[in-house]
Amino acid sequence: MTDRDLLNMAREAAQNAYVPYSHFPVGAALECADGSVFTGCNVENVALGSTICAERTAIVKAVSEGRRKFVRIAIYGEGETYCMPCGACRQVMAEFAGSGDMEVLCTRSGGRYVSYRLSQLMPHPFETFR
Ligand code: THU
Repeated sequence: MTDRDLLNMAREAAQNAYVPYSHFPVGAALECADGSVFTGCNVENVALGSTICAERTAIVKAVSEGRRKFVRIAIYGEGETYCMPCGACRQVMAEFAGSGDMEVLCTRSGGRYVSYRLSQLMPHPFETFR
């Protein structure tokens, strides 16, 4: 699967975004070590702090279906700047990074994207209880 394939899945997933407050749809496509892909979108709530990001939706879907090893996640958002994962999502990604270092693809308007390693985005996660 190419980066573009995964990014296209993330864009598709953004179509289900529930975003009555921000009007900013985000989609994510998470590639697991076994090749399976789980998608997610952001799901907002009137209590704004209860909003769930697209990345965490995809990760929770994958974990609840028995996957815990992830190799790549594509994040789709049509903004002026690259749609980077928030701190909470980075911490959740780090939870399942294990000894690996997943790749994080972030888009912006016009279809451009950048690629990072999770260790670049989240070099010192909280892990006291690991
Ligand atoms: N959001 C995501 O779903 N993922 C990101 O990487 C950044 C932010 C969502 C949360 C909220 O629904 C909206 O984008 C605006 O912050």
